[in-house]
Amino acid sequence: MKVPAIVFLLAPLSLLAQSTAKNTCVDCHSALDGAAQRPALLIKNDVHTGNGLTCADCHGGDRTADDPGEAMNPAKGFIGKPARTAIPKLCARCHSSPDFMRKFRPQQRVDQFELYQTSVHGKRLASGDDTVATCIDCHSIHDIRAVKDAMSPVHPLRLPETCGHCHADQHKMAKYGIPTDQFDGYRTSVHWNALKIRGDLSAPNCASCHGNHGAKPPDVESVAAVCGSCHVLFAQLYQKSVHEPIFSGAAGGGGCIVCHSNHAIHQPSTAMLAGPKAVCSQCHEAETPGGQVAAQMAKWLDGLDSALNQSEAVVTRADKYGMEVSEAQVRLGDGRENLVKARLALHSFQPNEMKKPIEAGMAIANETLRAGQDALHEKDVRRMGLAASVVFIGITILAIWALIRRIESGGDPLRPASAPEVK
Ligand code: HEC
Ligand code: HEC
Ligand code: HEC
Ligand code: HEC
Ligand code: HEC
Ligand code: HEC
Ligand code: HEC
Ligand code: HEC
Ligand code: HEC
Repeated sequence: MKVPAIVFLLAPLSLLAQSTAKNTCVDCHSALDGAAQRPALLIKNDVHTGNGLTCADCHGGDRTADDPGEAMNPAKGFIGKPARTAIPKLCARCHSSPDFMRKFRPQQRVDQFELYQTSVHGKRLASGDDTVATCIDCHSIHDIRAVKDAMSPVHPLRLPETCGHCHADQHKMAKYGIPTDQFDGYRTSVHWNALKIRGDLSAPNCASCHGNHGAKPPDVESVAAVCGSCHVLFAQLYQKSVHEPIFSGAAGGGGCIVCHSNHAIHQPSTAMLAGPKAVCSQCHEAETPGGQVAAQMAKWLDGLDSALNQSEAVVTRADKYGMEVSEAQVRLGDGRENLVKARLALHSFQPNEMKKPIEAGMAIANETLRAGQDALHEKDVRRMGLAASVVFIGITILAIWALIRRIESGGDPLRPASAPEVK
């Protein structure tokens, strides 16, 4: 079908009409300076501008009037700079309206304000404390980005710093008497490491554990559930363990964080079980059943780890010499898997549960050690064989050479050189 040429003429015209729709707010504010100018400069990257919204959609007023008194006339809905305590409601005018939001993005959630009101932030703001986070402290203002935008302050890689602006600020937090070490601790953790260094976006940031709009600390009963939402198998074993009912009553939070802490979660090792920094020894003397189990578990884990390392070293050497050890290499992987299973089984705190993977892993360590040693032995045998044949070939060449010389000098090739000639 032929498209009428007029369509091509009109399309750019209608675009032009949109872009020239009057926005005296931006025009005038761009020419001001300082705090009055900044919004007009920032707004071009704002997600609201991208969706065709303007200054007046938040602030009210008349964006077609050139006269400031008209443009910023309260009679035309102008609200000026909203008070901090009024901000969530301002954002909620649109974000809590399913009918309005559906026009822009049918799948968008509309529960942010509702959840916010249940958070420690929201409750305190409602009581007039405006030190807490409102929507703009997490999302910024006039430069609000889509949450998936890497420049958004709520992007997983930037969120810890966003929360840290307040929670790591001793001055700001002083009146509440809560710790201010969450940000520093978190940045030494396995989770931040996975997120920042390895780019693993499934690792938790502040909001994964605390919620984003309903931000409150996970309460004592739900700590294991928070960790368990990702570490499912660990939580299942722990829930059935002897410690679960005891730790869940602990002051300052229980569950996993008794041993792993909450923000500064570090790479676990057997130093948690035995030695001067062991967590178990905080409650179990060495001679008690708990202390003995801790020592036994450390011995098992270290034993399997070093047995696997030894086997791996031998198999790797054999591989370097070009020996066929691929099966042993695959089996070593199975051995490592048993070590992982043993670390998981630890969370039942029952030696019998851990013994199974330890024994299976040890069997593999022994079997692969033998395979590696056999391969190295075979290499030696082959080398000996090669050396023997080199020597043999050398002797044969010498003998033939001696024979040829004898024939050339006219001698009887069958008579020994030293024997007297037969007359
Ligand atoms: C002709 C210039 C002009 C126009 C048009 C204009 N403004 Fe302003 N606006 C100003 C000036 C000047 C101030 C005062 C700055 C100051 O106090 O430092 C101001 C202040 C503001 C403030 C801060 C008020 C406060 O309480 O601190 C907001 C918000 C604002 N304008 C929004 C808008 C919006 C929205 C529009 C369009 C509907 C608009 N302005 C149109 C010049 C203008
Ligand atoms: C998504 C809603 C939204 C949009 C769109 C928006 N603003 Fe604002 N604006 C706010 C909020 C909320 C505040 C209060 C910020 C605070 O408390 O720090 C504010 C503050 C201001 C202030 C006061 C700044 C200060 O530090 O005193 C000015 C001036 C202003 N806006 C102008 C504008 C202009 C001009 C535009 C368009 C270019 C615009 N705003 C677009 C929500 C918006
Ligand atoms: C304590 C910080 C914080 C506060 C306060 C906050 N947000 Fe959010 N917001 C977030 C985080 C974190 C996300 C999720 C980012 C992601 O999914 O990666 C988010 C996501 C969103 C989204 C995307 C849709 C969704 O729900 O995931 C919207 C819209 C939004 N916030 C609006 C608001 C509004 C409106 C308010 C105030 C009523 C508000 N936010 C208050 C941190 C906050
Ligand atoms: C006039 C209506 C309106 C107001 C007021 C408003 N927004 Fe929005 N907002 C929208 C629309 C429309 C979108 C684009 C659709 C979308 O991405 O969800 C949007 C998008 C967003 C997004 C990106 C969501 C995402 O999934 O990436 C965030 C964050 C956001 N707004 C925060 C705020 C905050 C914070 C305020 C208050 C300062 C606010 N909005 C005020 C209408 C509004
Ligand atoms: C603008 C400053 C500010 C920002 C940004 C902020 N908070 Fe808060 N937050 C506070 C204040 C103030 C309190 C009140 C402290 C209290 O009541 O103990 C609080 C309370 C909390 C609490 C409850 C603490 C308790 O035990 O009482 C948690 C959890 C929390 N915030 C998490 C977060 C997370 C997660 C983020 C980032 C997504 C964040 N906050 C961003 C200021 C902020
Ligand atoms: C892996 C989950 C997890 C992550 C990630 C996390 N927290 Fe926590 N947070 C917790 C747990 C668990 C508690 C303790 C709750 C209790 O004691 O009842 C807590 C407690 C808090 C508290 C209350 C005061 C305190 O220290 O006991 C604040 C505030 C807080 N976290 C802020 C943050 C901030 C800010 C970040 C990001 C820098 C963050 N959290 C990251 C799990 C987490
Ligand atoms: C949002 C999902 C999530 C939550 C919630 C979470 N974690 Fe993690 N955790 C991860 C990811 C992803 C890794 C990195 C895994 C890796 O290194 O292969 C990890 C790593 C770990 C490690 C190191 C494991 C290893 O093999 O190196 C420990 C210990 C840990 N988390 C404990 C906790 C505790 C305790 C909590 C609760 C306070 C918790 N996690 C909450 C996802 C989560
Ligand atoms: C009584 C102390 C204790 C409790 C409670 C505890 N763990 Fe552990 N966890 C340990 C010890 C000890 C190790 C280290 C084993 C090793 O690597 O030698 C460990 C290791 C881990 C690992 C790393 C496993 C690996 O393959 O390296 C993860 C993940 C983990 N724990 C998660 C959790 C979760 C989730 C909870 C709560 C459901 C929890 N732990 C409760 C003591 C504990
Ligand atoms: C916060 C204190 C605390 C920590 C830390 C702790 N336990 Fe326990 N554990 C207990 C208590 C209390 C009991 C119950 C003792 C009883 O019933 O007599 C217990 C019971 C046990 C039992 C059952 C045998 C017994 O003594 O009843 C084992 C096994 C055990 N713990 C191992 C460990 C190991 C291994 C660690 C370190 C990874 C550890 N515990 C860390 C407090 C702790």
